[in-house]
Amino acid sequence: MLADMSVDTVTEATSPATGPLTPIHTADTAPGWWRSAVIYQVYPRSFRDLNGDGVGDLAGITEELPQLAELGVDAVWLSPFYRSPQRDAGYDVSDYCDVDPIFGTLGDFDVMMAESHRLGLRVIVDLVPNHCSDQHAAFQAALAAPAGSPERDMFIFRDGAGEGGHEPPNNWQSHFGGPAWTRVAGPDGQPDQWYLHLFDSSQPDFNWDNPAVHAEFERVLRFWLDRGVSGFRVDVAHALVKAPGLPAWGGRADGSSTDGFPGHEAPMFGQPALHDIYRRWREVLDEYGPDRILCAEANVDPLPRLANWVRPDQMHQAFNFPYLHAGLDIHRLRTVVTDSLMALDAVGAPSTWVLSNHDVVRHASRFGYNGHGPRDGDGIGPFDPQPDVSLGRHRAAAASLFMLGLPGAAYLYQGEELGLPDGTDIPEHLRQDPTFARTGGERLGRDGCRVPLPWRAAEPHLGFGAGESPWLPFPASFAELARDLQAGSPSSHLSLYREILRQRRALDLGRGSLAWAENWCTSSSLAYVNGTTLVLMNLNHDPLELPAGQVLLRSASPDDARYLASGETAWIRLESGAPTD
Ligand code: NOJ
Repeated sequence: MLADMSVDTVTEATSPATGPLTPIHTADTAPGWWRSAVIYQVYPRSFRDLNGDGVGDLAGITEELPQLAELGVDAVWLSPFYRSPQRDAGYDVSDYCDVDPIFGTLGDFDVMMAESHRLGLRVIVDLVPNHCSDQHAAFQAALAAPAGSPERDMFIFRDGAGEGGHEPPNNWQSHFGGPAWTRVAGPDGQPDQWYLHLFDSSQPDFNWDNPAVHAEFERVLRFWLDRGVSGFRVDVAHALVKAPGLPAWGGRADGSSTDGFPGHEAPMFGQPALHDIYRRWREVLDEYGPDRILCAEANVDPLPRLANWVRPDQMHQAFNFPYLHAGLDIHRLRTVVTDSLMALDAVGAPSTWVLSNHDVVRHASRFGYNGHGPRDGDGIGPFDPQPDVSLGRHRAAAASLFMLGLPGAAYLYQGEELGLPDGTDIPEHLRQDPTFARTGGERLGRDGCRVPLPWRAAEPHLGFGAGESPWLPFPASFAELARDLQAGSPSSHLSLYREILRQRRALDLGRGSLAWAENWCTSSSLAYVNGTTLVLMNLNHDPLELPAGQVLLRSASPDDARYLASGETAWIRLESGAPTD
């Protein structure tokens, strides 16, 4: 990707450095490690399998943590490793205060924490408060108890509609497809009430109108805070409280505006009572000092509404999904960056930025299409149009270099530093995402972005684990993308990421300012100045002549150092600096 890390100076350029600037955001001096952190998402099932059962584990994470420290991230976020039947890859928790045996033990967790801290890495864990597993003791107790009992009141049980209660209580649909209600048999074996599950039927939603649920989650927060975690990524944080009376709603239960149903109108999302829950959690975290954080996975539109979640007495951060969904659309990118910084500045919170996670097609695959690719959560199958993997990786490097120059915090998803694409040839019988089964295969789901990591090209299973085959198969391209091959190559995607993170830290870009550099903002290029660095992305078919200044980084090696080719980004040190702070 990046043939030459050495610094070029463009001497013959005639273009003015930036032209007029439109300042949007000034440098951030507020305390808090998290305001500018780069946080790396570890998906434990797919990170590294040390015990050889084909599934990643905590000991595997401990083993490879030095690689993450060396990459230059500040913290890791671990997707769930709690006790779980794994019907939704661990987002179906049966015991919030224990480690599932496939991942190891609490002892393994403590060892991993100690190693992280030794390496100077913080650890954030996932909290799944909207729903648990149907195997959770509380849900089993609810099933055994009669309608109207305190046990049932931990969840959202309702009588069915229509004659004999044979119809679901309302028309809500599960995020994974099919109705959001399942009927249970009563203790006498007869058809009984229905329970709500916004996700799989094995994931009953908690009743957050019940104070006992609040008490239970405070206990869970303290359990992990006491073990040293630096905070929580809060799963579907916008969904815990449902509108009184559970009114009918025709949209899909994912709150995404891409469905044509704006999330903020949905009765299962963004209810006002949520804010008091997060105020209370903030108090709990603050008891442990200022360094423990809450990050909302909240699909809330528009951005000023999202900003309500990160007011000083609530969460610290929220994922910026509008940024992820903007893709490489120049107009949308400029709008979302401007709106994010302005909305979040208004409440004193930093923005976050993200391009990939375990729920969407990896950006190296998304950007491999000209025109429309797949819907983010629906995956790419062997019979779908395939992305152009090398084009996708080329553009992914540009998108990452653009994102990591922005002020604020950034989330990386494991494997994006290798430029990994999705697995697109997973056989149906190996698919595990409940979306696939619940839609009768119509939506493939998210397995493609969850394929295990290739660590060492010459080892069995590309070094993921030495025993059983990985739980999802590697695409053929993963062998040449293995981490050890990339580590030794200065032109690799991995080397680019290391250098980006090193310079981002050295230039303190996460704490920096942002002004649009208008001369470079066209319908096919976008540029901003952060401090003394100009970040310029070219999505035009034609090369752009670079402005005067020292080229600090480029997303690809140039044929001609004076130009920025199509689908590339560069960081340029401005000769005179820019007065944007
Ligand atoms: C969001 C998580 O990221 C996703 O993986 C999960 O399926 C749902 N929430 C339900 O917990």
